[in-house]
Amino acid sequence: MPAVGGIGPADGKAYPGNLTPFVLVTCMVAAMGGLIFGYDIGISGGVTAMPSFLKRFFPSVYKKQQENSTTNEYCQYDSESLTLFTSSLYLAALASSVVASTVTRRFGRRLSMLFGGLLFCVGALINGFAQAIWMLILGRILLGFGVGFANQSVPLFLSEMAPYKYRGALNIGFQLSITVGILVANILNYFFAKIKGGWGWRLSLGGAVFPALIIIIGGLVLTETPNSMIERGQLHEAREKLKRIRGVENVDEEFNDLVAASEASKKVEHPWRNLLERKYRPHLSMAILIPFFQQLTGINVIMFYAPVLFNSIGFGSNASLMSAVITGLVNVLATWVSIYGVDKWGRRFLFLEGGAQMFICQLAVGTSIATKFGTSGNPGVLPQWYSIIVVLFICIYVSAFAWSWGPLGWLVPSEIFPLEIRSAAQSINVSVNMLFTFAIAQVFLSMLCHLKFGLFFFFAFFVVVMSIFVYIFVPETKGVPIEEMSIVWQRHWYWKRFLDEEDNSPNRGVEMGKKVVP
Ligand code: BGC
Repeated sequence: MPAVGGIGPADGKAYPGNLTPFVLVTCMVAAMGGLIFGYDIGISGGVTAMPSFLKRFFPSVYKKQQENSTTNEYCQYDSESLTLFTSSLYLAALASSVVASTVTRRFGRRLSMLFGGLLFCVGALINGFAQAIWMLILGRILLGFGVGFANQSVPLFLSEMAPYKYRGALNIGFQLSITVGILVANILNYFFAKIKGGWGWRLSLGGAVFPALIIIIGGLVLTETPNSMIERGQLHEAREKLKRIRGVENVDEEFNDLVAASEASKKVEHPWRNLLERKYRPHLSMAILIPFFQQLTGINVIMFYAPVLFNSIGFGSNASLMSAVITGLVNVLATWVSIYGVDKWGRRFLFLEGGAQMFICQLAVGTSIATKFGTSGNPGVLPQWYSIIVVLFICIYVSAFAWSWGPLGWLVPSEIFPLEIRSAAQSINVSVNMLFTFAIAQVFLSMLCHLKFGLFFFFAFFVVVMSIFVYIFVPETKGVPIEEMSIVWQRHWYWKRFLDEEDNSPNRGVEMGKKVVP
């Protein structure tokens, strides 16, 4: 696997060690963390397109849907409790990621993962056996807590375990597993919706138990990371563990650097307050704006509501679920493009190319919906070629996201923060992401009802804004070691004004588990 992310030791030293089976198993568990998140994203849209599910829990939505074609298609799914069902998870994830960061630091990554898996498992069971809306929402909240814990601990676990050469590739591997989770959910929805008797939604929601069990087993059998052991004072055990993980005896250099990194980060008393210092303005801006823009691409309108959306543009329930499977597949395949290209073509190229492609598709989808649905939302009978063209543009749009803002929205923030603010800045990044995921999930259906086809132009507008932002403000980080990232800001025409002289030393900023330059 190529090293993705352009990350290597600043001073050219290479720690000995291999990609051992031990590390591979670890990475597979980390990938399961992504599956949990992805499964959630994909599953709710599918079940809300199942008539039996709507009839039982959201009868008013069901009734609207059954009414004749004079009903406004834009508004048939506009129901607050329906959106609350989808979005409650992200609010819970936002709240729990703050708690989870303390658990992860004090008690280790493993326990945090185990805890996340357990919460997730209980949530899945409550959803699978749900008899009333409150059970559905309670279940989603527990799933959200699970996602918060898993998303906090798994990526940390992963980047601490991975040999530095593979960390970048593994970072996008996490995004890949999110997309696989979404796809699996879409496929299961497609088949479970066909079950006679209309109880397939129970299997879809309850199916989340399986990725949860994998995470629980992972949390039980996996070892703690050496970094976390050192952080909690278990120096001897940490050294032995490192030998086992790297598959070599000579781990002194890396071990000493880990200890030094831990010491240095302990000296930082107020990481949150530090973040407000002027010199961290570029980092703070990125930690907030990158996840904000990622969600303002409108991707989760497709990920959460693709079946609902396809239903609205005239597909039957079955064809809608099938189309969601197709977009899910495009999402997985296109992610490989970024794994391949992120280090060859750079982040900025992918951001800008993806932005242009998304913009064109959003205009095309908005215009096609405008011409057939107008403002009344009553299209009459839609020809099949029409729906196919819309799905095609949606697929081209999804592929653009999958090789640009999808992976880069996680990769770029993770590689630009210096150690002393890394955990604080990263939790801001995660929280902003969850907050806007929640917001989009919550308001989309009523935005569709009010903005109608204009919704697509709304997101197209933001894609233009974010592309201009990238063009002007986001420096290229390809091939730059994390330890030398300050050079990138120092050379930037705008951000350099926030760095004072001493901050411009290329050696400032250390990476997790790397040499510490005090
Ligand atoms: C985003 C999710 C999105 C997913 C789609 C992730 O990077 O954070 O919100 O649903 O990509 O693949």
